[in-house]
Amino acid sequence: MSEVGLPLWLLAELTYRCPLQCPYCSNPLEFASMQNELTTEQWFDVFKEAREMGAVQLGFSGGEPLVRQDLPELIEYAHKLGFYTNLITSGLGFNEEKIAQFKQAGLDHIQVSFQASDPVINDMLAGSKRAFEKKNEIARLVKKYEYPMVLNFVIHRHNIDQIEDIIQLCIELEADQVELAICQFYGWAYLNRQGLLPTKEQLVRAERITNEYRKKLSDAGNPCKLIFVVPDYYEERPKACMNGWGSIFLTITPDGTALPCHAARQLPMNFPNVKDEKLSDIWYRSTGFNHFRGDAWMPEPCKSCPEKKKDFGGCRCQAFMLTGDASQPDPVCSKSDHHHLILKAREESERELALHELTFRNKKNSKLILVSKG
Ligand code: FES
Repeated sequence: MSEVGLPLWLLAELTYRCPLQCPYCSNPLEFASMQNELTTEQWFDVFKEAREMGAVQLGFSGGEPLVRQDLPELIEYAHKLGFYTNLITSGLGFNEEKIAQFKQAGLDHIQVSFQASDPVINDMLAGSKRAFEKKNEIARLVKKYEYPMVLNFVIHRHNIDQIEDIIQLCIELEADQVELAICQFYGWAYLNRQGLLPTKEQLVRAERITNEYRKKLSDAGNPCKLIFVVPDYYEERPKACMNGWGSIFLTITPDGTALPCHAARQLPMNFPNVKDEKLSDIWYRSTGFNHFRGDAWMPEPCKSCPEKKKDFGGCRCQAFMLTGDASQPDPVCSKSDHHHLILKAREESERELALHELTFRNKKNSKLILVSKG
C-alpha cells in the first residue's frame, strides 16, 4: 500500500441535535437512535491526539454545533493546540454575546449556511419561521467581528431559479466568499434526490448567471468570490471524494465513531470509536480506514484507468448507495457498468416534486425510517 498521509483535516461532528430540518441534511437517516455524545474531556482528547498526529484544520459541525453548551471551551482548547478552527453553522442559536465569546476563545472562521434568498422558501426548507431573519442578523455580526464572511447556499431544484437573488443577497451582506454548492446526495438528500436534483436546463442557466455576476463583481472591483459547485450527477467522471479514502480527512461523529468521511457510517463495515481505541491506531491500523486506501481494492475499469490517481475511483459511499456494493466504481463515471443509474436520476429530475413532498430531517421521520428498517 502507498504511504499513509496525515489526517490534516479533522471534522468534529459535535452533535446530531439541530433546530432545523433541512431535507438535504447529510446526517444519517437513523440519527434519532444515536445518543451518547462525547463529553467535553473526550473531545479534548480527540483534539490533542489529532493535533499530535499532524491535524491542522478543525471544523466544528453537527447537527448544529451551537447547541453544545461547551462550544467556547472546545474552541479555546483547539485554538491553544494550534488548530485553525472553523465553525460551520446555520446561525440559529447564535447571538452577539456568543460571537464575542468565540472571538475571545480564538475561533478563526465562521461559515453560515442559508437555505434560500426568499424568506418563505428559506424558512420552509429550514422548518423554522425565524430562520431567514436570524441568518441575516448573524451574517452582519460575522462581519462586525471581522471574520471573513463565507456564506454557503445549498442549491437544489427549489431555489436554483432564484440564483440571481441569492447572489444579490450575498453582495448586500458583503460576503467575502459565497459557496453556491449544488446539493450532494448523501443522507437525507439522497432520500429526497428526485425532488432536489436540478434539471440540466436549470443548472446551465444558474452557471451562466453566476459567471455573469463574477464578471460584474470583478469589473466593479468587488472582491466577493463566487464558487459554483456542480453536482457530480451531471459529470462524466467522479469527484476525488475526500481526496482519497483515509488520505487527509478524519471525521469524528457525536458518539465518537471515527470515519474517513461524513457518510461512511452507512457502509456495511466496522468503524472504530475513539472511546475504545487510540486515534493513531484508528488512522493507521484499523480495517475501516485501510480498506479503500490506495488502489489495491480497485476493480476494473478503475484498476487500469489512467485517471485513477486523479479521482481515486470516486466516492465509496455513492457507489454503495447506488449499487449496494462500496467497492464498485463510482457510477458517476461513464466507464462504470452502473452509469445508467446516474442517467436515470437525471431523467427523474425532469419530473416535478413539490417542496412539501420532501421528507424533512427531523426526529419523527428518523424514527419512522428506523421502524421501517426493522
Ligand atoms: Fe464517503 Fe465519498 S462520501 S467516500
